[in-house]
Amino acid sequence: MYTDLVMDHFTNPRNVGEIEDADGVGQIGNPVCGDVMRISIAVDDKDRIADVKFKTFGCGAAVATSSMVTEMVMGKSLEEAADISNKAVAEALGGLPPNKMHCSNLAADALHLAIQDYLVKNGREADVEQFLKALPKEREHSSH
Ligand code: FES
Repeated sequence: MYTDLVMDHFTNPRNVGEIEDADGVGQIGNPVCGDVMRISIAVDDKDRIADVKFKTFGCGAAVATSSMVTEMVMGKSLEEAADISNKAVAEALGGLPPNKMHCSNLAADALHLAIQDYLVKNGREADVEQFLKALPKEREHSSH
């Protein structure tokens, strides 16, 4: 039912935990099942994701997608991070079973919320607007 990659990230999740004094934090609940995902980021002076960690109170697929999104975004610029969609995370894992697709609807959203939090905290309102515009249009969670 799950790909080897999903099982690998579930049994050996990367970047688990919470960054102390994080530059940005994003937390989101899955309306379908109530599971919660929290992502914290550290951003360097070149606006790159220097570190990222996650805490997920959810199922195996949610843990795997959280783990995968942290790997995908590590070291990336904020613009590159904006490009990461929930769908891209699921695809990077080799797909999820249809009945678990809703579980992939948090990872990129939590990441994007953390980046938004970082920009807001730093008073960069214009950058927030630009960042929100750059986000993937397919917000899968709204269709479930
Ligand atoms: Fe809730 Fe998977 S069942 S995220």
